Formats: sequence, C-alpha cells, structure tokens
Amino acid sequence: MRISPELKNLVPYKPGKPISETQREYGLSKVVKLASNENPLGTSPLALQAVKGALNTMHLYPDPGHYQMIQAVSKKWNIPESKLAFGNGSDELIDLLCRIYCEPGQAVLTIPHAFAAYEVSAHSNRAQIIVAKPEELVSTYQKQKDQIRILFIPNPNNPTGKYLDGSFVKNLLESLKSEEVLVVFDEAYNEFVRAKDYVSTMTLYNQYPNVVVLRTFSKAYGLAGFRVGAMIAPEETIVVLNRVRKPFNVNEMAQVALVAALQDDDFMRKTQEITWKGLDYFYKKLHELELSFNKSEGNFVLFDTERDSSLVFEALLRKGIILRPVKNYGLPTHLRMSVGLPEENEAAIKALEEVLPMIEKIKK
Ligand SMILES: Cc1ncc(COP(=O)(O)O)c(C=O)c1O
Repeated sequence: MRISPELKNLVPYKPGKPISETQREYGLSKVVKLASNENPLGTSPLALQAVKGALNTMHLYPDPGHYQMIQAVSKKWNIPESKLAFGNGSDELIDLLCRIYCEPGQAVLTIPHAFAAYEVSAHSNRAQIIVAKPEELVSTYQKQKDQIRILFIPNPNNPTGKYLDGSFVKNLLESLKSEEVLVVFDEAYNEFVRAKDYVSTMTLYNQYPNVVVLRTFSKAYGLAGFRVGAMIAPEETIVVLNRVRKPFNVNEMAQVALVAALQDDDFMRKTQEITWKGLDYFYKKLHELELSFNKSEGNFVLFDTERDSSLVFEALLRKGIILRPVKNYGLPTHLRMSVGLPEENEAAIKALEEVLPMIEKIKK
C-alpha cells in the first residue's frame, strides 16, 4: 500500500533519554536527568493536593469543554474565554495548527535551529518546512507566500535559548498583519526570560488579526507528565481547533492540576529563582571549562563541547548524567543542559570536568 513520502521519510521527534532506561542500560541506581527542561522542584504542591482530591472521579470522562481551565486561565491572563483553547501539551496544538491550515504540499516557515516539533508536525501533515533567518522571514514569506501558511517562532527558542526582542516582534507583526499567514509565537519558556526588551505576544494578540500565542504548563508550572498546553488565537481558529481536536484531549487530572497550579505564585517564584541561580552557576562553570555557550532565556543552556557530542553524551551517561544531544539540529558538537537542583547541576559539571579531558577535541 502506498504511504506518502512525507510520512515514509518522517524523522520522529526524539525526546530526552528516560531515567529508567539509563538505569537499566548502564546498571546505575542514581541517575540525574537534565535533558528535557523539566522543573527540578517537581509539581506545585497545590496541584498535587488537588489531583489527589480528584482521584475518586477517575471513572468519569474528563470535561470535553475544558470549562474550569478556560475560566481559570482567562482570569489569570486576562484573555477572553472565546480566544482560549487547550491541547494535550502544546505539541498537540502545534500539530493541530498544521492540520488545520496546511494543505498537502504547502509549507510552514520557521527560524534556524527552531524547536524540532514544527518540522515533525509539518511533515506528519504532509506539509514542507522552510527555514529562514529571523531578519529574512518577511522576505522569504513574500517570495513563497503561495505556499507558506504558518510561521512558527519559538520565543525564546529551544535548544538555543535565544530570543527575539520586542521591537523585532512588533515589526514582524506589522509587516505580516494583512497577509494570509498565521504567525504563531511559541512562548514555552517565557516565565524564565530575564531580558528587559522581551515582549510577550500575549500583550499584542488583540492588535493583530493573525497572531497565535502558544504556552505550555510543562516547564515553569511543572506539569510535563500531565500534558497540558494553551493557545490564544483568533476566535475562528479556536472554533475550528475545538472541532478538530479529540473531545477528551486533556485528561481530568491535567485539568484539575492546571487550575490549582495557576494559583501557586509561591511555586512559580521558587522555580524562577532556582532556574536563574542554576543558569548563572552553569555560565560560571562553562566559562572555567573554556567552553562557549549562549546566554539563555530558557531553563537550559546550549554549549559547545568542541568534541563529537555523542562521545561526550555517552561518557556522561556512564556517570549517570543525561544531557541532550542536538545533532538533529545540525549542531554536532553541542549539548543542551537543563537546570536541575543545585546538587544535580554540580554533579553534571563534575562529570563534564572528568570526561572532557578523555575525549579528543575536533579540529575546526
Ligand atoms: C519551544 C517548545 N515549544 C513547545 C514544547 C512542547 O511542550 P509540551 O508539549 O510539553 O507542552 C517544548 C517542549 O520541549 C518546547 O521546547
């Protein structure tokens, strides 16, 4: 039977290596995972308490209308309810947007080294991916506007940790506001941003007719395992997405956890504090190791090992440290390291100090 070439050749998204798999494969009892930008503090205690209280309703289907979540998020973010939708993680929303807006052969435009899920979702929905530098996005769109339906901008980006400043974002939106293209800002890491000139499109969405904002609760909110992400979009997009999505895409545990987590300002403050301290520690130590890195607006840092990153990754695994290789992003000597608890960060740096001298540098 014929399978479309986009699906036959699809390169799947490769998540971080799980702790249990590493323990099994390397016979280790203790493993530190700094590979998936998860929250080292765990989940908000308020969310956990709420979930425990909801256990006795697990024989019932979840609310397909997401009523409690919509109310809570609308109030917290001051966004009209009609402009909000929820997905099984923001990766489901990325996928649904491709499904809704791209016909086979059409395309999604993004920036170099962008979050890999855009390409996977474009291809899964039989669309192409086009990559252009931020300063060339508008001209690329103008040249290929017959094909391009969606522009995905991760801000800040994963895995680079880089961001686009407010004036760039506003100029881009101005240039594209009368075009037939959806401009999607994926702000998965916005809670970690320290840059003063960063502007979230959550403050701009109502000035432009074609803007979509994606948010995840997997990172700063610590709900990665529950799977819930949100979207702010024009009403027409919300209506169609709610028709296309599965009715029970966000399970009841996730809905209950999110409503409670939104109230936990103390947990958010602690998360930001531990992240910023951890990043500053990594910068200091990477500097001492004479490794180059990007300053990051996320909860992770991308650095150049100056060696074949698979060898460094493997050597670190043997010491019980999981980092994230980024060869699939065209970065064969880099690794990405998420901020963990202070003792986890120290263990990762100690392991790096031990393994790097054993591995030959690549001549550039
Ligand atoms: C930039 C970016 N967007 C979206 C996601 C997806 O997050 P989730 O599907 O857990 O909401 C991630 C996860 O790593 C990410 O890095």
